[in-house]
Amino acid sequence: MSQDKKTTRKILITSALPYANGPIHLGHLVEYIQTDIWARFQRLSGNECHFVCADDAHGTPIMLRAEAEGIKPEELIARVSKEHQADFTGFKIHFDHYHSTHSDENKELSAYIYNQLKKNGHISRKIISQFYDTEKEMFLSDRFIKGTCPKCKADGQYGDNCESCGATYSPTELINPKSAVSGTTPVEKDSEHLFFELNNFAEMLKKWTTDGHLQSQVSNKLQEWFETGLRGWDISREAPYFGFEIPDETNKFFYVWLDAPVGYMASFKAYCKKTNLDFDEFWSKGSKTELYHFIGKDIIYFHSLFWPAMLDGAGFRKPDAIFAHGFLTVDGQKMSKSRGTFIMAKSYLEHLNPEYLRYYFAAKLNSKIDDLDLNLEDFVQRVNSDLVGKVVNIASRCAGFVNKKFDGKLVDEWSTKATQLYQSILAETDNIAELYEKREFAHAMREIMTLADIANEYIDETAPWVLAKEEGKEKELHESVSLGINLFRVLISLLSPVIPVTAEKARYFLQLEAYKWNDIQSPLMGHQITKFKPLMTRVEMVAVKKMVKASKADAKSAMPVQKTDNKILLEPIADEISFEDFTKVDFRIAKIINAEHIPKANKLLKLTLDIGVVEKQVFAGIKSAYKPEDLIGKLTVMVANLKPRKMSFGMSEGMVLAAGSGGEDLFLLNPDEGAIEGMRVK
Ligand code: 2FM
Ligand code: ZN
Repeated sequence: MSQDKKTTRKILITSALPYANGPIHLGHLVEYIQTDIWARFQRLSGNECHFVCADDAHGTPIMLRAEAEGIKPEELIARVSKEHQADFTGFKIHFDHYHSTHSDENKELSAYIYNQLKKNGHISRKIISQFYDTEKEMFLSDRFIKGTCPKCKADGQYGDNCESCGATYSPTELINPKSAVSGTTPVEKDSEHLFFELNNFAEMLKKWTTDGHLQSQVSNKLQEWFETGLRGWDISREAPYFGFEIPDETNKFFYVWLDAPVGYMASFKAYCKKTNLDFDEFWSKGSKTELYHFIGKDIIYFHSLFWPAMLDGAGFRKPDAIFAHGFLTVDGQKMSKSRGTFIMAKSYLEHLNPEYLRYYFAAKLNSKIDDLDLNLEDFVQRVNSDLVGKVVNIASRCAGFVNKKFDGKLVDEWSTKATQLYQSILAETDNIAELYEKREFAHAMREIMTLADIANEYIDETAPWVLAKEEGKEKELHESVSLGINLFRVLISLLSPVIPVTAEKARYFLQLEAYKWNDIQSPLMGHQITKFKPLMTRVEMVAVKKMVKASKADAKSAMPVQKTDNKILLEPIADEISFEDFTKVDFRIAKIINAEHIPKANKLLKLTLDIGVVEKQVFAGIKSAYKPEDLIGKLTVMVANLKPRKMSFGMSEGMVLAAGSGGEDLFLLNPDEGAIEGMRVK
């Protein structure tokens, strides 16, 4: 069906709200680019599509981060909001409105929704016992408690599960629990919490989650959750907390995840204030408009269960669909700071054109929740071969002839053969529109590149550079290059949601008023174009390598305060020791002469260290950062006189030192050559 036969749709879409305590990285950008392409496609098709977002500004990590920086949370979120928006602008993500969850609109809407839920009997109260930090005078969620795993006895585990053996437990089961905020031993304390009774919505949710609003992979996963039963959701947090106070309660705040999705509405409400849009038309029950949330697969639970239930319970419409996507890997692996593949939006922009990444992600994205890989070599190859080699090349092959030989004017009429070719290209465009609509961007890009191949073949066959040299071939030449430019115009129109800046430059070159999907139905005949300037340059591998190197350096110099997954890294400083105590520690430079995996150990590697006088066997928790084979022959610093400790895998005869925030960010002293093993460090 041709696009003009459809009626104009009114669509509101959102991307997940990024936390206001860390920078945007390429992993985030998968979603913002995906949503932005979809929004631009809708507008290109003549639909009314509003795209709103906001910073997710509340919660304990943001409160503690501000404290660590010695500033107020309001100052932190204002700064981060500016940084986020600069990154989004850099990547050409066009939000109609960008707001904050720490806003008047959000406060009002969150309170309204809560009061409605309460009035309708969906809020209950329960006393719960939690760990409490008596020094910081705050309750500690599981992530802010560390201790020894009750099962495998690994140290430094979080309050909910052990990263070493995978056991799950409650924080009170941890051995020697400590507050990750102050380092003190927490006490158990009771407090009353408010719960949203999700189970009241069980029937509605069972139907809604199987009614075509979710991807099938997601819907299937949710059915497993239904089987284990829906439990009440704890929506309150005790002071101190950076968030909104709960109406008619003392010292209780909404949990960040309560007011975060309300932030979608709040952002739209603020947008309505600056436009003539009607908030209720988009959010009231029975609304005829469409509402879609683009999210990552990690936050499906919140968006497919809590959020529709909150909306339903408070008398609002529910989303038409939740579009979840997978995570980004780089060169087949989790993004890694030590490998330089944990790339910030800002670092990327310092080295590369944002449209390269927009295109590459488009060429990889589909409607499923599988992870997608940014393979850096493939990235260079694909962008150069598709965008530069195929698409932009068509214009540069034809423009010179049109301008020099025909004063920039395209042919007035052309042969049946030319019409047929143009029509055969157009015949594919409805399918491409369908693919965009269904978020099958990778498939759409493949189809567009097939059309680009056809256009290039036509130019090869008609060979305008040969025609230009022959007498009496003006007509053929004019037709060849005019059809070439027309085919370029079709392709760049189809690609304009993905590469809007290049498309804008091309729009000027083609002297078009605007892009509209349906305009391509009529070719440009007798139309005046202007001088051609290169639209896009090739990606150079050197620039990619520089970006990776810079990201590696950034990761090493950055003082990690907190990880993006909210694991707090404000490790307390341990009790003071005397200089005499310090001199007791025998640090040695050691050569790693062997390193191997230990079956069943999730974190540890077995190292054999040569410190000259003797060899030592050490179990080091560095598996997340290093492959054993990469360590052999390298140097590290070890504590050589630590009392040997019996571990379930054998005796550990020392400790290696590392810097970094944990996980993949662990740096051993690791020179390629030069230092002397066995040397005392102090
Ligand atoms: O997971 C996150 O990064 C959250 N800040 C997403 C919130 S999305 C919405 F619900 F606000
Ligand atoms: Zn364990």
